[in-house]
Amino acid sequence: MSRLVVVSNRMPLGSNPSGGLVVALQDAMEKGGGLWIGVQPDADVLEGAEPAGENAVSVPGANFDRVAAVVPASAYDDYYLGYANSVLWPLCHGRMELIEQRPHYRAAYEAINSRLAKVVARFLRPDDILWVHDYHHLPLAAALRAEGVQNAIGFFLHIPFPTAANIHAVTGVEDVMSWISQYDLVGLQTQRDVSSAMDVFRQFPDSQFLMDGSLRFRNRTFEIKSFPIGIDAAAFRDIAARSRARLAPRARRWIIGAERLDYSKGLPHRLRAFGKLLETEIDLQGAVSFLQIASPTREDVQAYREIREELEQLSGAVNGRFSDINYTPIQYLNRGVPRDRLAGLFRQADVGLVTPLADGMNLVAKEYVAAQDAEDPGVLVLSGFAGAHEQLGQHALIANPYDIEQMARTIAAALLMPLEERIERHQAMLRIVMEQDVAWWSESFLNALEAKRLGSEFLSILKRLPDHDRVSD
Ligand code: G6P
Repeated sequence: MSRLVVVSNRMPLGSNPSGGLVVALQDAMEKGGGLWIGVQPDADVLEGAEPAGENAVSVPGANFDRVAAVVPASAYDDYYLGYANSVLWPLCHGRMELIEQRPHYRAAYEAINSRLAKVVARFLRPDDILWVHDYHHLPLAAALRAEGVQNAIGFFLHIPFPTAANIHAVTGVEDVMSWISQYDLVGLQTQRDVSSAMDVFRQFPDSQFLMDGSLRFRNRTFEIKSFPIGIDAAAFRDIAARSRARLAPRARRWIIGAERLDYSKGLPHRLRAFGKLLETEIDLQGAVSFLQIASPTREDVQAYREIREELEQLSGAVNGRFSDINYTPIQYLNRGVPRDRLAGLFRQADVGLVTPLADGMNLVAKEYVAAQDAEDPGVLVLSGFAGAHEQLGQHALIANPYDIEQMARTIAAALLMPLEERIERHQAMLRIVMEQDVAWWSESFLNALEAKRLGSEFLSILKRLPDHDRVSD
């Protein structure tokens, strides 16, 4: 069997904060094994790391092999804080006013990917399956091909694909298209993302849409499909049921939100909606509290510092207005919470708020559903901007973060929903979350990639055959 080699900027390393990508892939890698290659600006911080050739260390201690490609810290900042998170992240999340393009960001982004390609190429065996993750590594396949790598290479974008109009904000957009085309299979979260990608390619005369559904850009043929990412639902359900974490006081109704403190998550809108709820539903004052967990992230980027200040101010304002001696309406935690505690808190909360302004999938929506007690489940309030909306939107309550009053009314409806309806909606969502879990996601992607690999092997055998041996059609 071929070995799976995963490449992503971040990988699970002890105290590293984890977003959706690491959580999902770690679940997949722990079951199947393989090699995970990440990027590390400062190898000294890695406990137990051992030298592994030029610019690389290996990090033992997991159920799979881990290698960190070591890069200079200042170039890492220009690549990670700069091009990845000040150009591509706002671009993909439609926050064009936050894009900051600098030539040295792009240069560092390309240089780090070239350096990473050299490390990956050194570890790669001819029959390995290579799966690259996320916007940090758009040029990696091109850099690997330049190193002579011929393996099948898959790519999965965890965040939304930019729209056909927004893509023009990127300087050198055709290079970006050409980077993408060096992959054999490009996985996106939703059908909506696939439509955006098709619209983007359609704008360029070098694109050709082939009869078998694949795409040709310049001299490369590749495929773009959606593979909605899942969670290890059975395990999370289990952790939630066993967790000892408690929301106190129990007599109160609880609303929960939990994410990285990112401007794409719509947190200010959510706090405003909660304030509006307390203002309009006077009976709820003192009876419902909102626990918002927002773990700090990318704090050296200005936009993240600003959103943090805004949230502190907003939660202070709502609390100042509605608090009482024994009542704090908003409990705002600006830090992460361990996964087992989080699972228990989700299980106890009456309402889970997942109301981003833009989001690739949003695994919290799925975790909230998985964590619920099927006999007395809470209600998921979801925005149409989360990728999860494509799978769960029919059964969740839908809130529009751009309409604060509508969102407040939706939260009120969630708090009032009768048990029977809660069970019915939850059952439908739980089925989807359990069936389309993380193993289903990685298997579907890897099967599709394997099919591409076999297809192109077959073609290359055909090309090598003398003309009279070819099968005519
Ligand atoms: C999102 C991205 C991931 C990223 C995670 C955490 O889920 O898709 O690629 O790892 O956020 O962000 P960070 O910048 O801390 O790695």
